[in-house]
Amino acid sequence: MPLARLKSFVTTMTRIAETASSDDQWLSAARPELATLVSVDDWLPDAYAVPDNQYYRQYLLHCDPLERFSVVSFVWGPGQRTPIHDHMVWGLIGVLRGEEISTPYSAGENGGLSICGDPTRLAPGQVEALSPVVGDIHQVRNAFDDRVSISIHVYGGNIGAVRRHVFDLDGNTKDFISGYSNLAVPNLWDQSIAA
Ligand code: FE2
Repeated sequence: MPLARLKSFVTTMTRIAETASSDDQWLSAARPELATLVSVDDWLPDAYAVPDNQYYRQYLLHCDPLERFSVVSFVWGPGQRTPIHDHMVWGLIGVLRGEEISTPYSAGENGGLSICGDPTRLAPGQVEALSPVVGDIHQVRNAFDDRVSISIHVYGGNIGAVRRHVFDLDGNTKDFISGYSNLAVPNLWDQSIAA
């Protein structure tokens, strides 16, 4: 049963949550687990892979009951991109299908934002880490203008409910709370699956 991969990931993440006490510990423990999850593209239910014509979609796959982490399917229609934004919690991005480009930004001396490193292009199976400790402002986009891309994101909180920020290049900031695109999450618990 393909969903066993997601259930196994959620179970492992819950075990990591019992011991991880810093962003570094979370990221080093969870990164290889996410890499394993996105190394095979046979488990994401179709309902969580549906693009929207206008906006990228964020489907919640799982939220830890104590809101220590959440797992989200990001579905990018052709050419879709985020605004420049931050997260306020650690994050991991793993590409499952297609490709995604993340461009890092930081505040400059004049108060504006500027690109602060090379864009990262992620192919299926590859994972990028983000942490507010080292700066986590970026813009993400589908690398393709003619097809859908899908990435699995993991965050150190219930990301759909976290108050965070979008930026313009002049450094103007707006609060936002992303919410989620779906009304239901997949049922991982209707049978016992060894993790
Ligand atoms: Fe992001």
